[in-house]
Amino acid sequence: MEKQLERHQETEPVVYERSNEEGWLHLQADREKRAALPHVLKDKEVPWKQGAQAYRKHYVHWGPGHHYANAPVGSMTVAKQLLPPMGKGGKHRHYNEALLYVIEGEGYELHDGVKFPFETGDLACVPTYCIHQHCNDSKNWVSVFYCTPADFFDLLGIQSTEQIEMHPNYQPPENAQVLRDEQGRVVGYTTKEGQEIRFGFNANLQKLMDARTALPFLGEPKNNYDFYRRTLGDQISWRQAAPRIIKAKDHSWEETPMGRLKYLAHPNVPSGLLLFDAFLQELPPSGASGKHRHVSEEVHYILEGRGYDIHDGVRWEWEKDDVVFIPVNTVHQHFNSDPRNPSRFFSVQSRLYHYCGHGGFEHFADAPGWKG
Ligand SMILES: [Fe+2]
Ligand SMILES: [Fe+2]
Repeated sequence: MEKQLERHQETEPVVYERSNEEGWLHLQADREKRAALPHVLKDKEVPWKQGAQAYRKHYVHWGPGHHYANAPVGSMTVAKQLLPPMGKGGKHRHYNEALLYVIEGEGYELHDGVKFPFETGDLACVPTYCIHQHCNDSKNWVSVFYCTPADFFDLLGIQSTEQIEMHPNYQPPENAQVLRDEQGRVVGYTTKEGQEIRFGFNANLQKLMDARTALPFLGEPKNNYDFYRRTLGDQISWRQAAPRIIKAKDHSWEETPMGRLKYLAHPNVPSGLLLFDAFLQELPPSGASGKHRHVSEEVHYILEGRGYDIHDGVRWEWEKDDVVFIPVNTVHQHFNSDPRNPSRFFSVQSRLYHYCGHGGFEHFADAPGWKG
């Protein structure tokens, strides 16, 4: 024992801890990078790309190299997706949830083999770990605005996509070596760098999820440990019953100090989403919203009209089909520039901040005309 104490008191060479400094420098660089990014992406500036799921414009993609690459928002991927007439997206599954706002068109969601029809203005909700496919059974194109919290799931160590079936017009990337099964179906490809990408189910993940659904405990918790056994059972029940399509016509507009809103996903408007709030907002001709701030990031897709936002005193112009990004902790207000017509946008806010103790709004000014 004495010897051990002696050894403990021996002078050791000082190794200076640098990880905090590296962290501070990283945060500083990150803040500067975000501050330089535009708050509005114009529709024409973002090209359509063909990928595993469908034709998409990715405003914010997940993963290394994409984080804060185009827009000052990091808690969600943001994309627009097209489905051709009588077409469909790739069939796939991921741990994270996803939301799709139907900008235009009629079709249906296929979730674990069950059809859920949608039409223009509806919100489709893909709950966690659901096999899904977006389908168009009409003669017109379907266009949807799409968000997921993929980067957050990456941080949690459970980001995963199983590409079960490719969409009918799928083309592998340029210079890829296509891999086929015995029936000639595309089952993956080798990239030009020689990395092999395989499609299909991940058997280990499937086993894990099957186990999670096979052992629900729905009894009354008798102790703190049982509380979490019950949680698993509750979450399984929630996933099975979660509403998949929120019909815009089933919800009414609310006059609020922030303006005219229609929530489609909110703690008081049940949906298959846990990590997003989503709502529609309408600004009257030459009108404005209220002014507020929240920690959470917010993204708008402009459905109709033209106007501008003021973000921390800076003006950002927008028009139909633009995507507006409101970074964390930004004082913001929305204005309609058109003296004759209303403007409308679809808004998504991450609810993750709320769960981390950073929820709620600071309200600074009422929308003009708000009478309380
Ligand atoms: Fe998906
Ligand atoms: Fe906001």
